[in-house]
Amino acid sequence: MNDLTCKVLVVGGGPGGYVAGIRAGQLQLDTIVVDPGPLGGTCLNVGCIPSKAIIHAADVYRAMVDEKHNNELGIEVGAARIDLGKTVAWKDGIVGRLNGGVAALLKKNKTRVVRGTAEFVDGKTCAVKTDQGTIRIRAEHIVIATGSVPVEIKSLPFGGRVVSSTGALSLKNIPQRLVVIGAGYIGLELGTAFAKLGSDVTVVEAADRPLPAYDQELTRPVVKKLESLGVRMLTSTVAKGLSESGEEVLVTLPDGSTEPLPADIVLVAVGRHATIAGFGLEKLDLTMNGNVIGIDSRCATSMRNVWAIGDVTGEPMLAHRAMAQGEMVAEIIAGKNRSFDKVCIPAVCFTDPEIVVAGLSPDEARQQGKEVKVGIFPFAANGRAMTKQGEEGFVRIVARADNHVVLGIQAVGSGVSELSTAFGLALEMGARLEDVAATIHSHPTQGEVFQEAALKAMGHALHI
Ligand code: NAI
Repeated sequence: MNDLTCKVLVVGGGPGGYVAGIRAGQLQLDTIVVDPGPLGGTCLNVGCIPSKAIIHAADVYRAMVDEKHNNELGIEVGAARIDLGKTVAWKDGIVGRLNGGVAALLKKNKTRVVRGTAEFVDGKTCAVKTDQGTIRIRAEHIVIATGSVPVEIKSLPFGGRVVSSTGALSLKNIPQRLVVIGAGYIGLELGTAFAKLGSDVTVVEAADRPLPAYDQELTRPVVKKLESLGVRMLTSTVAKGLSESGEEVLVTLPDGSTEPLPADIVLVAVGRHATIAGFGLEKLDLTMNGNVIGIDSRCATSMRNVWAIGDVTGEPMLAHRAMAQGEMVAEIIAGKNRSFDKVCIPAVCFTDPEIVVAGLSPDEARQQGKEVKVGIFPFAANGRAMTKQGEEGFVRIVARADNHVVLGIQAVGSGVSELSTAFGLALEMGARLEDVAATIHSHPTQGEVFQEAALKAMGHALHI
């Protein structure tokens, strides 16, 4: 058995782990990142990036189909056709380029990569199974960044026509009938994309409305779009399993009756759970926080010099949270005084239209006993949105009534994901409504709606 030693061993090469590896390398810490798969983890290989590629392709295709019917822009197109195999190959090309980019960044910063599966021997040592045999790696610090995996419904296990998001992103053909279980992030992002590509989509959601984690004011435009795409939404409905023939999903409707839903593909997207089993974690006897690893504000676990970052530490399971934690932990190990004290972690749902939430919603702020001012400004009154056929939706800003410090910013609308950066910055900088209102926002942009929402909260929006 070969032995390697290093200062920092990062277990997992996803957004949390590889960023920790890059930053540790920049700080001249002798670092090894271990991962059996291509670098970039779920997000880069089978999550955020490939799903955005498929969503983009679906949007382009749908725009052509719609233009043929409406001819609003005066563009004439022939019958639109899509070769999903080619689309998937294009998506795989993007993923491949990003895999290579991550490997190059680690190399540039002198961080070593070991391709293999790590298993804990003790709090300082892992045995890593590689193609060339097992290597023992001993480190002063270990960073656990093992991510998460899709939750499986016991009565509807993955396999055959039942797929997780990973399978849905690599389909060879567009399914004629797609049943999506779970109207959360993944279910609605991919459900919308396949509806645009021509699938007959039914979404099954246990809660009484889709995207139950968001307030209804924000989800209304998304629900409207799903309806216009012909997506059937079954709420307060639970998936039971496949029928005997295996060709239908049996669901329990709110009245207790069972309905068989014919399906060529069943996408199960009912959440993700932390990867905590199968790699000897139990040998460390870490304090757990339910089914995730317990951490403090420095991402320290209950064991000295064992750190945990990203999805394995729980919600929100978002790549940008993992990256920020990875960067921070590398700096702490290098001796810097850091802690995770973010004002907000923005979340984006890439539905149609997109949804952004940053900080507190009006209801959340009120529940915390805060008196608030709320400004909502619609994209319908924004020139740039009109020129992009994106008049649906709004930006909403929530501020303290007394001193106007901004507490939260939410938006729903075409392309609002790109506004999430401005929202996050305003919140982190402790902006007041006056700061947002006094910042010159370039014209014509959708960002002007953010400025107008701040003006509206103060009672003097200009363009409405
Ligand atoms: P989710 O937690 O967003 O939604 C799961 C939905 O399934 C919930 O609405 C829940 O009520 C429903 N559900 C649970 N059990 C059910 C059952 N038996 N029958 C019917 N409905 C059921 O989970 P999702 O969409 O799988 O995404 C997992 C995680 O991945 C998210 O929490 C998020 O952290 C991450 N993600 C982030 C994205 C982004 O940032 N844009 C995109 C995709 C995923």
